[in-house]
Amino acid sequence: MVRNAVIEAIAKVTDIGEATHDGAGTRLRLGTEACVRLFVSTPSRPKATSSDTHIATLIMEETEGLSPDQVQTLQTAVRRIPFTTTEMKALRGQMPLTGELPAFLPPGTLSSLAPVLTVHHMTDFLVMVESVLAMGVPAQAITVLDKGYPYQHTDRVDAHLTRQGIAVWPWTNATDALDDHTRRAAALGLRGLLIDDGGYTLPVLLAQRPDLLPHFIGLVEQTISGITRLEPWEGRLPLPIFSVAESRLKATVECYGIADAAVRNLLRLLPEEKLEGRPALVVGFGRIGEHIADVLRSRRMRVAVHDRQLVRLIAAHERGYLTNRCLSTLLRDHRPLLVIGCTGRTGLRGEHAAAIGRNCYLVSTTSRNREFAVAELEEEARLVTDEGVLGTRLHLPSGVQVTLVGDGFPINFHHAESLPNMYSDLILASLLVAASTLAAPDHGFIAGHNVEASNRVLESCGLLERYYARFGPEATR
Ligand SMILES: NC(=O)c1ccc[n+]([C@@H]2O[C@H](COP(=O)([O-])OP(=O)(O)OC[C@H]3O[C@@H](n4cnc5c(N)ncnc54)[C@H](O)[C@@H]3O)[C@@H](O)[C@H]2O)c1
Repeated sequence: MVRNAVIEAIAKVTDIGEATHDGAGTRLRLGTEACVRLFVSTPSRPKATSSDTHIATLIMEETEGLSPDQVQTLQTAVRRIPFTTTEMKALRGQMPLTGELPAFLPPGTLSSLAPVLTVHHMTDFLVMVESVLAMGVPAQAITVLDKGYPYQHTDRVDAHLTRQGIAVWPWTNATDALDDHTRRAAALGLRGLLIDDGGYTLPVLLAQRPDLLPHFIGLVEQTISGITRLEPWEGRLPLPIFSVAESRLKATVECYGIADAAVRNLLRLLPEEKLEGRPALVVGFGRIGEHIADVLRSRRMRVAVHDRQLVRLIAAHERGYLTNRCLSTLLRDHRPLLVIGCTGRTGLRGEHAAAIGRNCYLVSTTSRNREFAVAELEEEARLVTDEGVLGTRLHLPSGVQVTLVGDGFPINFHHAESLPNMYSDLILASLLVAASTLAAPDHGFIAGHNVEASNRVLESCGLLERYYARFGPEATR
């Protein structure tokens, strides 16, 4: 399967001629002159990896006759292997709420809809897509927008979706994707539904293609930044919004998992760093920030907090954190080794650079690279260096080095799978419950925000009971 998947990916780039197999793998002639060699092997220390691990290696023996683009795409062929049946079975086992949801709902619950899914390209998403299909949506009625973060398995997820016949578009081309989606949905006699994680679609329709809005019945939003991005249209939103983002369910279960995943991935990227006893600064003491502060404190760091809302600053103070209303003062006096941005907006700007008096790491836990004003900070630096997987380093005129970990993108997705699928199961199942709610003609949601109605549905739909049965005191496994 692995060999065939790589060969299939190569065939999409160029014609494959003669194929020869010998002890040194499979040699494929491409076009008239080019040639690659493909090996599929098992690890030399099988006990050091999960069972059934295979390693695919593609050696470009000769690239004559191929364009630079073709060469680059070929190099990624080994990363574009759809998930095997064994892997999918394991993923379903991790995510029973999402995987089994179709059985709890009337058959064909989503069969009148054509969803646009802008959800992180991680393995949990594949189980969610299987359920969307099982809820009556044909593959050709689905559009996926790829948010383009460097998740651990992003190319494999992409390849898996494409093999299922699902249209995958880059988020940077959302306007064309939505146009194409609307035409496909209309041809199938279906109405569109937006299922979004970060405001990638409704703001685009509102700003650029309002003519397409009547083709959509609503928005399911997973994250606060998506709600924030709708602020310019406050009071005149034309579609009902089901906000999993602002739900009590999500705040209760997911935030700690994200904080933990963020810190764990940071430690993976900084294996030689010592955190205990050293200073950290959390900017933004909201749902995510308060858990980040707790996790860092449990790792024995000396944690300071800044939030622009006094009530949240006091919340941090009452929990025993060092606080200050002025971010520059905390940077100057607390001298943090880690600065963790949790505002979802832009918490740290070029003007703050002068207050940074020691080498430190800037780490975002929020959306895209908005958390730190990267361009402004780069302007303050005399030199910017590429630090590989760690990110970018800014060398300030003072001699201080500031490392923008993951180039300022959210750390929990940086070549990682964020929180374990056992957590995200509840959230992705909630998105599907939200979709099935909006699919019902008499859903009762009004145009605009429906936070309380969203809470009511999520807390009465049975997901929490099943979650508690699985992980609560009565759990049998
Ligand atoms: N990385 C992930 O996996 C992940 C998961 C969920 C949410 N998020 C994102 O994380 C962000 C935060 O989510 P949340 O639920 O914690 O939001 P929240 O609204 O609960 O918290 C944000 C906090 O930041 C403060 N703040 C805003 N701007 C500030 C500024 N300039 N300076 C100082 N403080 C400021 C606010 O007062 C608030 O207390 C959102 O963008 C959300 O989309 C990321």
